[in-house]
Amino acid sequence: MNDADAQKRAAGEAAAALVDSGMVVGLGTGSTAAWFVKAVAARGLDITCVATSAATADLARDLGLKLADLGEVREIDLTVDGADEIGPGLSLIKGGGGALLREKLVWEASRRCVVIADAAKRVPVLGQFPLPVEVVAFGHPTTALRICDALAECDLGAAARLRSRDGAVVRTDSGNVIYDIPCGRIEDPAALAAALKSVTGVVDHGLFLDLADLALIGAPDGVVSLEP
Ligand code: 5RP
Repeated sequence: MNDADAQKRAAGEAAAALVDSGMVVGLGTGSTAAWFVKAVAARGLDITCVATSAATADLARDLGLKLADLGEVREIDLTVDGADEIGPGLSLIKGGGGALLREKLVWEASRRCVVIADAAKRVPVLGQFPLPVEVVAFGHPTTALRICDALAECDLGAAARLRSRDGAVVRTDSGNVIYDIPCGRIEDPAALAAALKSVTGVVDHGLFLDLADLALIGAPDGVVSLEP
């Protein structure tokens, strides 16, 4: 296991200690969240889980965790998830794994959200990681042009790159496509978030602002806790 993986695992295991029996728990998506899912399952608690992707649901089911749909639970007590970048005030870029829409739905339904990551995810300014934007498939190239207009209004001249894998356009669990936007530096994340949401056809974006209550970040000498 390399250093980053060890840090992800330590962060996931630290987050698992926050879970108590009887809780409804949101399960994030990605390699760090998978460490959390495994650590929670190993504790053998009586919990109900809401997964943020089909991949995480498969993992949770294989590990014997009880699953419910988001619509079946009134509220989620605690959600634990990874991130692609952690910036000032625990502002985040998420969606590298393509699950940003379900992740945001679950995060917003949660009383407490904990982001877990390896130390390399901490950045002074968001934007080095290309910002994922989930777009309705119908007419998506036209929506992409309108996204570029919205970016220009935020003084970001970035192009929007349609996400593909092995020559095929990636579809999300909700059947949408994703454009990745290399912004460079996002000086005003709230303004960019609002501009993107104003484009018809944009379902959501990977900026998670004012949502994380705590970060648990693996480091060479242990796990560091950060609050907004
Ligand atoms: C998936 C995500 C992931 O949490 C993010 O991409 C981090 O992944 P990893 O833990 O594998 O580095 O937002 O949509």
